[in-house]
Amino acid sequence: MIKVLFVCLGNICRSPMAEAVFQHYVNQEGLNDKILVDSAGTGNWHEGEPAHHGTLAVLKRHGIHYQGHARQITHSDIERFDYLLAMDKHNLAGIQRYVRGDKPVVALFLSYAYQRGLVTVQEVPDPYYSGKFDDVYDLVDKGAQAFLAHIRQAHAL
Ligand code: 4NP
Repeated sequence: MIKVLFVCLGNICRSPMAEAVFQHYVNQEGLNDKILVDSAGTGNWHEGEPAHHGTLAVLKRHGIHYQGHARQITHSDIERFDYLLAMDKHNLAGIQRYVRGDKPVVALFLSYAYQRGLVTVQEVPDPYYSGKFDDVYDLVDKGAQAFLAHIRQAHAL
């Protein structure tokens, strides 16, 4: 099983969106017995809360259901997951505080779409203050497709 954790700050806007969209593609491609998907936040302010209504609304408009609840990243996540994908550089630094040695892969989520020329930015901007959930969705969608293509290639799935 390849285990993927999406990480943002609050785990209510961006990482749940990435988790839901990526899970959607994993299901669509019949890979849900090969890839496990979850999300977490570097902060704990929203622990236990459902995703932000803006995230849930944009997911719903795209026919994607999400029922996860926010949680903070833990040391055992670092042991358990193969890929920890940060939404922005601040989150990346937050994850790196937990990591010892060279496992797991810790990267910016959009780096895969960026390398493939699908997006021109490497960070997913936070919609918590801007309210730009549709713009964030477009980035997340491209990021999810590019990352799935990457792991299919890397793991011969
Ligand atoms: P997220 O957005 O990291 O994409 O879940 C945020 C959610 C909450 C806060 C900041 C960002 N907050 O400050 O409470």
